[in-house]
Amino acid sequence: MSTLQNDLYLRALLREPTERTPIWMMRQAGRYLPEYREVRKHAGDFMALCKNPELACEVTLQPLRRFPLDAAILFSDILTIPDAMGLGLYFEAGEGPKFERPVRDLASIQKLGVPDPEQELGYVMDAVRTIRRELHGKVPLIGFSGSPWTLATYMVEGGSTKNFSVVKKLMFADPQAMHLLLDKLADSVATYLNAQIAAGAQAVMIFDTWGGVLSPRDYREFSLNYMQKIVSRLTREADGRRVPVTLFTKGGGAWLADMAATGADALGVDWTTDLGVARQRVQDKVALQGNMDPSVLYAPPARIEDEVATILASYGQGHGHVFNLGHGIHPEVDPDHAGAFIEAVHKLSPAYHR
Ligand code: CP3
Repeated sequence: MSTLQNDLYLRALLREPTERTPIWMMRQAGRYLPEYREVRKHAGDFMALCKNPELACEVTLQPLRRFPLDAAILFSDILTIPDAMGLGLYFEAGEGPKFERPVRDLASIQKLGVPDPEQELGYVMDAVRTIRRELHGKVPLIGFSGSPWTLATYMVEGGSTKNFSVVKKLMFADPQAMHLLLDKLADSVATYLNAQIAAGAQAVMIFDTWGGVLSPRDYREFSLNYMQKIVSRLTREADGRRVPVTLFTKGGGAWLADMAATGADALGVDWTTDLGVARQRVQDKVALQGNMDPSVLYAPPARIEDEVATILASYGQGHGHVFNLGHGIHPEVDPDHAGAFIEAVHKLSPAYHR
């Protein structure tokens, strides 16, 4: 495999010195890019795009052709695992993801198997291999998965939800069934991420989008506990380099110290926590990724640059920061504003690394 030409992202995740702050954007491949909408139109639906390794590779590379980003992220979705477990994932226009066969009781949870990544999820591994080949070592490739708790919310609710009442009912009325589901998911996620690493992913990230809807006690028992199990089972070295793992609990700012204790290399932070405060909470034990509100990209470029300056100052001098949005980029954002955002990080961050 070719050596990396730009390893700023990997070095920052390990808190090693870099000459500037690296940047990538959550959901950097997606509907805000006209070239994505074009490919998507020809592929048919979103899952057809995910299941075609050549097209998944093409849309992964699109944002890198436009912008000087420091990492590529596999084009796929967190819901590939429940789909492979047989729940029947589909996307209804404007309504987000749905499952034909949600799991809501012990009997249906007992029937779930752990998917074999090279069989049922072989299309994801093929996409990883194709992207690694086509990147030619330009920047590292990030693999990812959802957290067990976040996957469980979609699997039990049958889709997106506002108040999480069905999944919380299962959690409080039958905690043993919930733990069995989370155990199977932790096993599936660890196996899946290790297969992505074996296929060529150079870093991995676990998205715990819905951990923040739990109480502190329930977060530890039903979300963090299972992410910790996964972290302890991950392959941490490939091709003679450490494979860093990033955990991201949206709304989890208060729990960063507990998250750092899992052994993860880095934590994602959303915009509701100042990066300076976050850094104090983790005592520089891990790197931090974040944390601009994606809605700032609606502002004119001067205001975007101002926000970038505020975030860089909040993290302060030194290494261990990966610039990102605090959540995915919105589909209505002007790509030129995304470009201005990335340019501002290139321009203003070197001063913090001297
Ligand atoms: O960051 C990237 O560029 C990589 C691709 C990526 C997607 N989904 C592509 C996608 C990643 C990392 C994800 C993760 C994901 N998927 C999460 C965790 C991160 C987060 O945003 O909190 C979650 C919760 C999902 C589940 C999911 N998938 C939802 C809720 C939706 C609908 C959202 C919407 O905007 O319609 C999806 C679909 C999805 N996943 C799209 C993309 C580009 C939009 C599909 C399309 O219409 O083209």
